[in-house]
Amino acid sequence: MTVNRRSVLLGGCLAAGLAGGVGLATRLSSSTETGLTERGQLLDWGAPAPHQALIALDGLSPGHPVREEALRQLASALRYYPAQGGLALGHSIFPSPATRPRGLTLMPAFPGDVLESTQTHGDALLQLGGAKAGTLQASVAQVLAGLSHWKVRWQIQGFRTDQRETAGRALARNPFHFTEGLGNPPGTQGDLRALVRDGHGEPAWAVGGSYQVVRTIRLATTLWDRDTQEEQERIMGRRRNGQWLDGTPATARADFSADPHGRTTPLDAHVRRAAPDPLNPPPLVRRSYNYEHAQGESGLIFTCFQSDLATGFEAVQKRLEGEAMSKYLLTVGGGYFFVPPAGEGWVDALLEPR
Ligand code: HEM
Repeated sequence: MTVNRRSVLLGGCLAAGLAGGVGLATRLSSSTETGLTERGQLLDWGAPAPHQALIALDGLSPGHPVREEALRQLASALRYYPAQGGLALGHSIFPSPATRPRGLTLMPAFPGDVLESTQTHGDALLQLGGAKAGTLQASVAQVLAGLSHWKVRWQIQGFRTDQRETAGRALARNPFHFTEGLGNPPGTQGDLRALVRDGHGEPAWAVGGSYQVVRTIRLATTLWDRDTQEEQERIMGRRRNGQWLDGTPATARADFSADPHGRTTPLDAHVRRAAPDPLNPPPLVRRSYNYEHAQGESGLIFTCFQSDLATGFEAVQKRLEGEAMSKYLLTVGGGYFFVPPAGEGWVDALLEPR
């Protein structure tokens, strides 16, 4: 990390942050791609809510006399929530590895991360969507009022700018002015990348669920905006509107093999590192929100869903080490979570055998 980046990204704003969320949906449709009928809330790949709150909660330790009551309280927290909402579970909520999704660990710090404990991890992650920031805040307060056994570990609110749908993909504009979402698969094809299925070696209750990664990434927007648009596009590997640097249209896939030395699309460009092989795009679905704090800090609440963390997020994150964009980013929080399938079957998985 350069001194420049440290001073820009660490400066002044490390106070515990309110930040922002993910797109959610209460609609539970059956999947045509996987045959699964019970997919979890949140796992809907259409346009997400324009605003979102993420609230990480800590609960009662295993063995506590009212733990079951607390878990039932959490399960019903969103039952009457009128808009889009969902829940995901953290590593620390599971009493034993026997029922935990096998890849669910505490999110490690990756090279360059400065994870703040006040913005990272949690027993559970509640996610509420809303049309407006103000009404969303009121909903958050209402939902939290019903969670007497839980305490807020961190929360963040986010929004999606220029939200639209193109070729079956939900798109938005990130704080670096670039179109996001084009690399996602169209429509319900996201299910194949994101949902746990029979035969994946996961506990039976987890089938239809998904591993969710949240990364609160602070962006050095002032530094970024000093670069020309052309420089920014070479760092990203796409034009701001999503078109590839070799002229391939935004919704098609570029063929980097015609540019082995990176003359057109530099070898350290974000999209080239993220997805070097156009025939094998990374098995994950991204859905991020922008955030902006009163202190002037802004960034991306990067979120992705996958059926396997090692081949999904972690493989991509490793490839992104040393990418040209890294000097403009600082990851300060987030966590690994698991979105359970619909219903309350997960509650039993969290109760210790009597
Ligand atoms: C704040 C940091 C980030 C910014 C500003 C950013 C921005 C972008 C943009 C503009 C695109 C091209 C359009 C699209 O396909 O959505 C993209 C693609 C992508 N990004 Fe990021 N991204 C960031 C962080 C990450 C992280 C942390 C990961 C995963 C570890 C990631 C994984 C990907 C993947 C897999 C693609 C699609 C590549 C493809 O299939 O063509 N990005 N990103």
